Amino acid sequence: MASAPGKVILLGEHFVVYGGQAIAVAIDKGVIAEASIDQKNSIMLIDSKLQLESSQEKNFLEPVSLALDHFMKEYSLRGIRLVLKSNIPSSAGLGSSAASSVAAIAAAAELFGIRLSDSELYDHAIIAEQLVHKRPSGLDVFVSISGGAVKIKQGKRFRVDDFPSFQLMVCDSKVKRNTGSMVEKVSEFKNQNGDVFKALQTAVDSLVGMVESIRRRSQLALLANAMNLNHEALRIIGASTPLLDKMVIEARSAGYNGAKLTGAGGGGCIIALAISQPKAAFKKFSAIYDNAFLANVSTRGVHSWKE
Ligand code: PMV
Repeated sequence: MASAPGKVILLGEHFVVYGGQAIAVAIDKGVIAEASIDQKNSIMLIDSKLQLESSQEKNFLEPVSLALDHFMKEYSLRGIRLVLKSNIPSSAGLGSSAASSVAAIAAAAELFGIRLSDSELYDHAIIAEQLVHKRPSGLDVFVSISGGAVKIKQGKRFRVDDFPSFQLMVCDSKVKRNTGSMVEKVSEFKNQNGDVFKALQTAVDSLVGMVESIRRRSQLALLANAMNLNHEALRIIGASTPLLDKMVIEARSAGYNGAKLTGAGGGGCIIALAISQPKAAFKKFSAIYDNAFLANVSTRGVHSWKE
């Protein structure tokens, strides 16, 4: 068995693809993989309601299964049955594909008694992300392995130690989108508006720089403000949608101090942070969107065990 957390990007998605800074945190929701010996390789995904995610399953599992095949070949292994149980929506910006690949490979390694270092596990799991889009920042995979808060600067990934733990509201717009096409869309914006993109990237970089130095919960107002500014930057580069903008505005009027889309955008989830009265804000927001849920920052990354 192996468990790997999903993630939310607090700041910096898209800009990170072009060398910008970003910060993401692991959340206390993710994917559990159960591996057993079988005659032929098979892999299936079961969602939080314990149903096969049949519609999305094939597309979603293709990269995971490719990364798994690569791992099996490298160690000359054959015959594995993998069942992935997820309690995060797929294709929604919460790192479900990265958490699935990380959990799948960690469970396979546990089953066959192979000890993988974090960087070996990363190299195997990133294969799946490379299939999703050509230039993945690797943030999802890294944070799913390490847990806690992770920052990327100039393509290098660091764990941010002593980052405070807090709760976020997450709400899925239920519009499925594809990370690769959103990266493509933003790249077109960047090609046509190079100066605007550069200015926004500099602004987002400085927000990440300020937020990574937060050590106490009393400083979280800084993060909330940075999230609001970052949403505007993402809206300008074309990553948002009218529905995501509406959800963000409604979250703010429900009492959330900061709200933004998270991940590639074009659909998927928003995240929101309430500094004071989080219960009242959640009650108000979830009266409009019944699929909103709360997620806590999780310091725990991937781990595996034998049942
Ligand atoms: O929506 P997600 O979880 O696939 O995140 C995509 C984040 C991007 O910055 C747009 C791409 C990347 O590789 O970092």
